[in-house]
Amino acid sequence: MTNRILSGMRPTGRLQLGNYVGALKNWVHLQDEYDCFFMIADWHALTSNYADPGDMRRNMRAVLLDWLASGIDPERSTIFVQSLVKEHAELNLLLGMFTPLAWLERCPTYKDQITQLANKEIETHGFLGYPVLMAADIILYRANFVPVGEDQLPHLEIAREIARRVNFFHGGPIETGTNLPTRPIFPEPEPLLSAIPRLAGLDGRKMSKSYDNAIYLDDTAETVQTKARSMMTDPARVRRTDPGNPDICPVFSYHKLFSSPEIVAEVDRDCRTAAIGCIDCKKLLANSLNTLLDPMRERRAVLENDTPRLTEILEAGNARAREEAERTMGVLRERLSLPASARDAVNAS
Ligand code: TRP
Ligand code: SF4
Repeated sequence: MTNRILSGMRPTGRLQLGNYVGALKNWVHLQDEYDCFFMIADWHALTSNYADPGDMRRNMRAVLLDWLASGIDPERSTIFVQSLVKEHAELNLLLGMFTPLAWLERCPTYKDQITQLANKEIETHGFLGYPVLMAADIILYRANFVPVGEDQLPHLEIAREIARRVNFFHGGPIETGTNLPTRPIFPEPEPLLSAIPRLAGLDGRKMSKSYDNAIYLDDTAETVQTKARSMMTDPARVRRTDPGNPDICPVFSYHKLFSSPEIVAEVDRDCRTAAIGCIDCKKLLANSLNTLLDPMRERRAVLENDTPRLTEILEAGNARAREEAERTMGVLRERLSLPASARDAVNAS
């Protein structure tokens, strides 16, 4: 049986180059090998944005377009919206029964966020339960692997612990007609860490919306050129004739990720001897970036005005996700002695 993957992103806005190299690019390749489920995690976005959700629907559309433009293929992968598959909420509730508070309270991301987002009131049930909802996302599809960044590892560890705990109490052979694996009921999901390092912003700081230092997947070729031109370089390289040090230059770190090995070698050599100037070096970079982004622009252009097609993609994805979710919930409800119907509820034999 093909292994299954589930991953998700919160719809918080257009995606950046950093999201592409850190996650999306990996997802696109995983489609060749796995049965992939990709989820727009709108409920997760609400855990911290409940007071001001912003334009969540617009963001959702933007994320969907970014995924499709990047090569996520709705014919092969299941693309869906978390809040449109209500079983996520049901499983979240049930997994909550099994989750000791201490697991959540000691979660490092929780402790970090409480200090970092001090301006938001997130000492809430929902925010503390973020990892439980994430565990539900994964367990609902009985996913074997979860491609995530390092920041999500603590959440995944909790998901594994929850799966293990449910298996401990309720694993065992299934008597009646499902083709779910017998003992244990849920696979313990494993992380798939992508090896790609964090992409710095144009100014060398952390790439972030609030610093306005990012390149977006939907930036035009001209915008990419302008942004490349504005990038920080080796600050010691003041004049064209000064030799530079690519090892400390953000432009070079982009070359290493986006340019051909020949260009990387050329820049590495010629910067140190001042044989290449920063303006030309940045032009080379803009070309490399646009070579990556051009095919995405073509796919985006086809889809961006085709709302019926986008609707159809999500409808099909949601339906497929629901089907899997219902299967899992059917088994779990039975294990937990919950009735499947009124008749079931009064038929105590
Ligand atoms: N918490 C993840 C993030 O912020 C998004 C997410 C929600 C997710 N549910 C998930 C990722 C399930 C993987 C699996 O990036
Ligand atoms: Fe950076 Fe390129 Fe200028 Fe060297 S030539 S300092 S790598 S921008």
